[in-house]
Amino acid sequence: MQFQNQKISETAELLQQRFELLENKADILKAVELRSLYAEIPTLPPEERGSFGKEINLLKQELEALVASHQEQAEALPSIDVTAPFDINVPADKRPRLLTSDNGTKHPLMVELERVLDIFYRMGFTAVESRQIDDDYHMFGALNFPEGHPARDDYDTFMTEEGLIAPAHTSTMQNRILKQHAGNLEKGEPIAAVIPGRVFRNEDLDARHEHTFHQVEGVYVDKGIHAGNLIATLKTFLQEYYSDVLGDKQLEVKTQPFYFPFTEPSFEFALSCPFCDKAGCNVCSYSGWIELLGCGMIHPNVLREGGIDPEVYTGFAWGFGIERLVMMKYGIEDIRHFESAKLDFLRQFK
Ligand code: DAH
Repeated sequence: MQFQNQKISETAELLQQRFELLENKADILKAVELRSLYAEIPTLPPEERGSFGKEINLLKQELEALVASHQEQAEALPSIDVTAPFDINVPADKRPRLLTSDNGTKHPLMVELERVLDIFYRMGFTAVESRQIDDDYHMFGALNFPEGHPARDDYDTFMTEEGLIAPAHTSTMQNRILKQHAGNLEKGEPIAAVIPGRVFRNEDLDARHEHTFHQVEGVYVDKGIHAGNLIATLKTFLQEYYSDVLGDKQLEVKTQPFYFPFTEPSFEFALSCPFCDKAGCNVCSYSGWIELLGCGMIHPNVLREGGIDPEVYTGFAWGFGIERLVMMKYGIEDIRHFESAKLDFLRQFK
């Protein structure tokens, strides 16, 4: 818009900017600035009043045209069918972008879990997700914990009033896996499964203990399986998982006797610290070794309960916490960061 009078041209510019911001575009015609221009006419010298008045009318007409063309455009837009899927109502270029590198990422634990599973897939394991609500039979009974056995107390298990259980370990899935695949053993197919899942314990919380965390369980059964197969499997996995840190260096592993009702013998499995090569550092608490997980040869009672004859078949199992594995990998000092929803923490893993 071009106006001779400076006051009018300033007002025109101002109103045009305001127009862009207005929700109800017609309100621009009621603007005080416009009305005060009319009010100014009687104050002007008579010879200027004519041209001033004409320019105000011109401005008003232009604003009316602006409002009208906006209305026309709005009416030309297709109406929205609120029951239709979003891609019918929203043109492709106007859709919100999901999960791009700048507006969101996967949680670091899930990224690492995918890496873990990928290694086990390549080793021939299949993956089955565990459950988040279970029962006493799968948590204890099927795993050779007799009624009232003190080992039940080690698991600080949350239970509902109806007796349902928030699983305290992914071993709850062992019986299901064994039963489901027992028939394949006779066809010569070993059972090889990893079971990632979320687990819950009534823990006192600190930098190393969370009430909610994640485990990866492993189960392998076939004829002639022994503890050497167990150790080699876990060592191969860990060598690959920490391969970025290790390069050509070989991990060392060792087992110590332990007790779990569902394995016999049971072991605590330790690896040489990938970060200091046993020299001692803060990741391994200056001991050179890291005790990472529980494992063992599946107890004959557990195999039998899963429909497998322990005289014919043997197998191994393990369970490790994913948080622990990832904390070591990235030098994360407090397990509570994972579930804290702290963006500062999460953004470091973009
Ligand atoms: N379920 C055990 C825990 O959470 C870990 C474990 C130990 C799993 C030995 C196994 C196993 O499958 O054989 O403490």
